[in-house]
Amino acid sequence: MKIIVPATTANLGSGFDSFGLALDMFLEVTVCGPADEWFIEHQIPGLPHNATNLIIQTVCDVAPGTPPHRLKMMSQIPTARGLGSSSAAIVAGIEIANQLNQWQLSNQDKLTLAATIEGHPDNVAPAIYGGFTVSGSVAEGYFATTHHFTEVDLIAVIPPYKLLTKASRQVLPVDLSFKQAVAASSIANGLLTAFLTNNIELMTKLLECDRWHEPYRLLLVPELEKIRLAKVELGIYGAVLSGAGPTILVFAPKNQSHQVIQPLQSLLPDSQIKLCHVYQDGVNVQ
Ligand code: HSE
Repeated sequence: MKIIVPATTANLGSGFDSFGLALDMFLEVTVCGPADEWFIEHQIPGLPHNATNLIIQTVCDVAPGTPPHRLKMMSQIPTARGLGSSSAAIVAGIEIANQLNQWQLSNQDKLTLAATIEGHPDNVAPAIYGGFTVSGSVAEGYFATTHHFTEVDLIAVIPPYKLLTKASRQVLPVDLSFKQAVAASSIANGLLTAFLTNNIELMTKLLECDRWHEPYRLLLVPELEKIRLAKVELGIYGAVLSGAGPTILVFAPKNQSHQVIQPLQSLLPDSQIKLCHVYQDGVNVQ
């Protein structure tokens, strides 16, 4: 049995902790068979192989009685780069628990478990549902809705350094004034409308106007400002931080990404430039 989970990008500008998009880069975990102890085989330096691995930890947290298995993992999702690697691991762990215990969890069940572990639902929602998701939580629990995304080309610019979400959240303010929150919220509302109605003009106007998190994170990811300053020459709609960074998600006109990739690479020679596509499926089992 193989569990496949897509990479995800969160925030998409002003949809802080709420908007998310599944991308066509994948975490694949094969459940090889029962073993004396949990073990996960992989080639990623520094990532644990034993019960401290996040995938195994998640299985054991959500289903403590699950008999140990040997797992094998392959991942195209770079770690600590803002592309949802930890959310993918958590969602994979929940799916393994679901399959090995024959639970038949619904997507809502998986969302509740995953968002509780992760602390916010914006990456786990698209990893579970696929496509473009808007998620959040109210007293009754977590919610997520899925939508068709705007017709754009997406390019991930992956800088050569890691940035832990915890460190990137530490620079955020503890409070915003009522006035600031209303302004930030209206920009997010407008951007969501633009995404949902394929209103490219409005999307271009609002994409780089986030007021929740990007102004505070600019210093952590200098590449973002560099791309924004070259926006006209690059011929792009705009660029946003992918999740907590450091990856930057570049929005380009549909079918025009080939004209953007080379100039982007020249502008940021140390970063990996990767054309991405929206992936419509969430976690799946083969
Ligand atoms: N919304 C989160 C953040 C995504 O920006 O901190 C990373 O987990």
